[in-house]
Amino acid sequence: MTKDIKLTLRTLKINSLKIVVKTLHGLEEVLMKEVELLGGQNIKKRKRAVECEGKLPFLYEANLNLRTALRILVPVYEFTARNETELYDQVKSFDWSQFLDVRQTFAIDNTIFSEYFTHSKYTALKMKDAIADQFREKFDLRPSIDVEKPDILFNLHAYQDKFTISLDSSGRLLNQRGYREPGHQAPLNEVMAAGLLQLAGWNKNIPLVDPMCGTGTIIIEAVLMGLNIPPQINQKEFGFKNWNNFQPMMWNRIRAEAQGKIRSAPLMISGGDIDGHAVALAKGALKKLRMGRDVQIRQVAFEDFIPKFQTGMIITNPPYGERIGEDVDNLYKKLGDSFKNNFSGFDAWILSSNVQALKQLHLKPSEKMALFNGALQVQFCKYNLQEGAYLEEE
Ligand SMILES: C[S@@+](CC[C@H](N)C(=O)[O-])C[C@H]1O[C@@H](n2cnc3c(N)ncnc32)[C@H](O)[C@@H]1O
Repeated sequence: MTKDIKLTLRTLKINSLKIVVKTLHGLEEVLMKEVELLGGQNIKKRKRAVECEGKLPFLYEANLNLRTALRILVPVYEFTARNETELYDQVKSFDWSQFLDVRQTFAIDNTIFSEYFTHSKYTALKMKDAIADQFREKFDLRPSIDVEKPDILFNLHAYQDKFTISLDSSGRLLNQRGYREPGHQAPLNEVMAAGLLQLAGWNKNIPLVDPMCGTGTIIIEAVLMGLNIPPQINQKEFGFKNWNNFQPMMWNRIRAEAQGKIRSAPLMISGGDIDGHAVALAKGALKKLRMGRDVQIRQVAFEDFIPKFQTGMIITNPPYGERIGEDVDNLYKKLGDSFKNNFSGFDAWILSSNVQALKQLHLKPSEKMALFNGALQVQFCKYNLQEGAYLEEE
């Protein structure tokens, strides 16, 4: 039996912590760069995650600033178990009252890849029972479960017989930025949009256009990036705020410092969409960020979109053709024509799952990256729209 990590409350306060930052498939390297820039140590690439080390201030900074992070976990207990009894005993032997007060609520997220434990919900239930029984035996009381909004969110990870229990310092998904207006059918994940901008190498000095911007996720993430606005600046709820080692003064200082680094406009960012409702949602989100006047979003078909700049970058996420009756082949053909006629001198990046439709652009990609948009495998393709990039008519 190995016990690699056994964090105590004291360790959590002063020592360098092992931190696991979860992300989307394909964004690991972008996230590694973000973690490095923020001062993370000993950075390692993992599957859909990045592992690093840092102290408590780094953990707060990471939650506030990392654009491609989905959740930030702090492993507190590692053990091995091959059956339910072993799992129950191992969990019960650890002192959970260091992290959880009997009056607090808790919940358990789980990721189980194990031939020994094939029912992930049941495995998490065993962990919950062990924690509850430990409290009952010690205090005659037990903390309650709240799956919607727990005070303390644990993460149970198993690979075969190796278990790691972590505290979820975010407490919710970090793609929730607080600017999203509900109501559109296919908005892009905010973490994906931030990742696309970084994969494409966009920076605030490059004019950016999303001619099918929908609710404006790519544009809004570009605004946040361009102005150095932390993605979580308007969010108040984080898991670490309910930990009994929470340092409000440290957190307020970190927020104030980040606020002080926010730049002011101008930005060269614009968007369009044929759907008036989506455009209204995008404008509403920009207004929330007080950027309503600095970024132009219009209701316009991409065929009629004329950019203000001679060069720049297009990053867009066109329809994939999953809706019945959608003629995407024709749409992509027209998109290729519009690139040729109106955007020569730009670099265009397109995210799509529809390989067949992408061919209708009649453009030769200079780069291709494989990503996942939810469960859907997608390609992120780059096209240089200078002369010579166009394929000969067949
Ligand atoms: C997959 S959605 C984009 C979602 C967007 N990235 C977001 O985060 O909300 C594709 C968008 O293309 C728009 N669209 C379809 N045909 C268009 C056209 N001819 N001109 C402009 N926009 C178009 C749709 O209205 C839709 O909002």
